Amino acid sequence: MFLSKEEERLLNSDSYAIRKSMEILIAVGKIFEADRLISIKSAQISGISYDNIGDAGLEWLESLDAKVRVPTFSNPCGMDVIRWREMGIGEDFWKKQMKVLNALKKIGVELSLTCTPYYIHNVSKGDHLAWAESSAIVYANSVIGARTNKESGITAIASAIIGKTPNYGLHIKENRKPDVRLIVEKDVNPAIAGYEAGKVVGDRIPLVEFEYAVSRDGLKAFGAALAATGNAAMFHAKGLTPEWKDFEIPKEKIRISKDEFERCEADLIAIGCPHASKNELEEILYLLSKKGKVKREFWIFASRKLIEENYELIRKIEEFGAKVFADTCMVVSPATKRFKCVMTNSGKALEYLPKVRNVNATFGDIKECVEVATR
Ligand code: F3S
Repeated sequence: MFLSKEEERLLNSDSYAIRKSMEILIAVGKIFEADRLISIKSAQISGISYDNIGDAGLEWLESLDAKVRVPTFSNPCGMDVIRWREMGIGEDFWKKQMKVLNALKKIGVELSLTCTPYYIHNVSKGDHLAWAESSAIVYANSVIGARTNKESGITAIASAIIGKTPNYGLHIKENRKPDVRLIVEKDVNPAIAGYEAGKVVGDRIPLVEFEYAVSRDGLKAFGAALAATGNAAMFHAKGLTPEWKDFEIPKEKIRISKDEFERCEADLIAIGCPHASKNELEEILYLLSKKGKVKREFWIFASRKLIEENYELIRKIEEFGAKVFADTCMVVSPATKRFKCVMTNSGKALEYLPKVRNVNATFGDIKECVEVATR
């Protein structure tokens, strides 16, 4: 892989973090036969819940002696950093989680703590990124037309410190062509369509044809679930995403039709995986105003920035008894594991809650979630 004079210099830097970061990027570049490093506009770091990173990861973060060179966002952590007690998080966990966040802050990472950085930062078509959270990666590649591979927490930090990523995979136009055509039938919720599609497409890129009108939130839900049950890092959607016309339509065709799910009696309703948009919050408030007070735990997750910018909207939702938490989510927070059954409108959470938190999960769209929460 070609290295510029400047990159050679970074490889021999006095800073441990800069040297290590260069070594990591070169090793990845060699594996994937990248020709060079390319500059990135931003990085996004995942896996930062203390529950996930543990003491070894914390120590490594604390050992980093360099600052990030590009805007670097952080994925949700294990708790709402202000309302952690309300979530049932213990003091020991809080202390450790705060250490992780402080270590990230020290190297210049913005503590946005969200998997929807595209709601609060400008990301444009053609931008090269090094993002690490699967739903954000799919959204950036597919809906925005930016370019990122599926980074790990470690390669994203290395890219953030160097400001570059190896040029391979989805950074190169020809690798973004669709492999398979997916027809999503009329009565299939986009989150469920993604959940089912992930299982059949694996790591192939689908060109999706929805037989109904889908919003950007619908595409977000579809992509998150697609990447959770499968391994895809992007999709195209006919008439909806910016690059779908750039390639030939694939020959192989798969239909996604309605499926039935296990039902369990939910003791927690959880919305906001990926983190909720303003439109979704408005829809929740509208539905609550029709249905009335919440009668069981109803948690909604969104970014702190969005919550702060929509104070009145959040206050009204919480007046009905729901809780809108920031900085975390139902999957990365250990708070969810004390429940028996979680109802969610997310195909991604439906997949991960049983695996990561060992709780049963059942699906309901936003309307059904509000109905059950107020019943
Ligand atoms: Fe985001 Fe957590 Fe879901 S990080 S995509 S809300 S699992």
